[in-house]
Amino acid sequence: MAGAIASDFHPQPDDRIFETLQDFVDGYWARMIPPQGEPPESWSDLEASLRPEDCASCHAAQYEDWQTTVHSGAYSPGLSGQLVNWEDASFGTVQSCLVCHAPLSEQSARLPRGDEWLPNPAYDQDLRDHGIVCASCHVRCNRRHGPPRRDGSVEPSPEGSPHGGVIRTEFFEDSRFCAGCHQFGPGGAAPNGKPLENTFAEWDNSRYADEGVSCQSCHMPDRQHLWRGIHDPGMVRSGITIEWLTEPSAAGDAGLRITNTGTGHQFPTYATPLVLVRVLLLDENRDAIDGAMVEHEIARRIAYQGGAWVELADTRLAPDSAVVVSVPVAEGARHARAEIVVQPDAFYREVFEMLLAGMLSDTSSTLLGEAQRRAEYSPYILFDETVTLTR
Ligand code: HEC
Ligand code: HEC
Ligand code: HEC
Ligand code: HEC
Ligand code: HEC
Repeated sequence: MAGAIASDFHPQPDDRIFETLQDFVDGYWARMIPPQGEPPESWSDLEASLRPEDCASCHAAQYEDWQTTVHSGAYSPGLSGQLVNWEDASFGTVQSCLVCHAPLSEQSARLPRGDEWLPNPAYDQDLRDHGIVCASCHVRCNRRHGPPRRDGSVEPSPEGSPHGGVIRTEFFEDSRFCAGCHQFGPGGAAPNGKPLENTFAEWDNSRYADEGVSCQSCHMPDRQHLWRGIHDPGMVRSGITIEWLTEPSAAGDAGLRITNTGTGHQFPTYATPLVLVRVLLLDENRDAIDGAMVEHEIARRIAYQGGAWVELADTRLAPDSAVVVSVPVAEGARHARAEIVVQPDAFYREVFEMLLAGMLSDTSSTLLGEAQRRAEYSPYILFDETVTLTR
């Protein structure tokens, strides 16, 4: 709930009204998001609430979609299992993570004053546990913001609309809306010259930016609040084309061509997933032939070495680029089999394992144990086909 913020706290409620697209680009994602302050007295508790369950009583469709997404789960066991270790010793570190995972001031137990972090009177722990809530994206200083109406108009809401109506802006249809949390700025870690989170820049350099195909076009089709990505097999299949190399024949090579035909950035964009491609040859009994196998990783591999991030390899597929994974056809080969396995959390799985090996409080090890199990079970088989070689 929004509540009184003692006047000596910083940041203060920010009463600025965003008007032009440039105002939104410059200021909407300033974080932590300033405290909302007191809602207008004439509002009902329902209108004033920042809680997603309360938005749901009037916006059920968005709530139902949102609940199924990684955004609503962003205050995850993998995050909180780390934050509990820093809450007393270093709240600034906690806050440096919350700016993307739970960015409202009302989701933060403490607010800064000078060098200190003092208890936040408007803190709502339940709201924090819901991660990236509706209000993170839609509410500033109690005002609701949203996209133009579907007919493109941005005129103010009718007098007497709930929550004082909506400020409508094309910013919600702009890829820069997503960049705040999906693109590191100039100061962020950038092994081999490429920021660790570089999705907006990858998109901006692709044909999709020229063609006006925004993040929202692919990730919020028909304005649905779904944000499917690497964890969703259907979404991943929609972004690439998988072809057997010509007619697989008993002479030459057998294998696959994988092309990034519909992913608006590198496939995959982050350094955290791993896509493993395997091609192998089988004999007439469909048994694998020794040595007739090739494996290829599609991933950006990074490691923390000597106090800095380094890039070990980058075999991701830029928009419209392709990789061929093939094996020379061996004596006795009758069939070729190809398999693609996606490990959405490959990097985090290693991180959680490493953290669990250290000294942790009970709470931390329970949460990280849960995160580790989730990461262990997230891999899936994207593709598995066997073809008979022609003679
Ligand atoms: C009591 C009902 C009610 C509650 C609670 C409510 N809204 Fe609304 N909301 C409305 C109505 C009615 C409109 C349409 C206003 C108009 O015509 O401009 C609207 C419009 C919107 C829009 C623009 C929608 C569009 O069609 O373009 C957004 C975004 C929005 N609300 C967000 C929220 C969020 C976020 C919450 C919770 C923090 C919330 N609302 C809570 C009733 C409600
Ligand atoms: C990560 C940011 C984000 C979150 C979280 C989020 N929204 Fe949205 N919402 C958007 C964007 C962006 C659009 C506009 C999409 C477009 O125009 O393609 C939008 C559009 C809307 C609309 C207009 C829909 C229409 O059909 O015109 C409503 C209503 C809305 N959101 C309500 C909510 C509610 C309720 C929640 C929480 C359950 C929520 N949003 C959570 C970013 C978000
Ligand atoms: C600039 C925004 C941003 C900041 C700041 C940020 N994250 Fe994340 N985080 C993301 C995004 C985007 C993903 C999903 C993409 C990926 O897998 O890397 C993610 C994923 C994660 C995951 C894996 C998924 C999960 O929830 O288990 C963990 C764990 C995590 N972050 C922890 C942290 C911690 C700890 C901090 C602070 C030290 C932090 N993050 C700061 C944006 C951010
Ligand atoms: C307030 C910060 C924030 C904003 C704004 C935001 N995201 Fe995210 N997004 C995250 C974080 C954090 C994660 C990772 C959550 C986790 O797994 O813990 C994430 C995850 C995702 C994923 C990953 C799904 C998967 O399967 O791993 C997609 C896709 C995504 N966001 C798309 C978008 C799009 C499109 C927009 C703009 C409309 C957007 N996001 C705006 C913070 C944000
Ligand atoms: C042309 C369609 C398209 C556009 C445009 C697009 N994406 Fe994606 N995105 C995909 C597909 C398909 C996937 C699944 C494959 C993958 O994970 O790379 C994906 C995956 C993701 C993921 C999951 C993590 C990962 O490692 O891949 C995130 C986060 C994401 N997109 C964010 C964004 C953001 C932010 C933008 C805008 C700057 C954007 N996307 C633009 C199609 C698109």
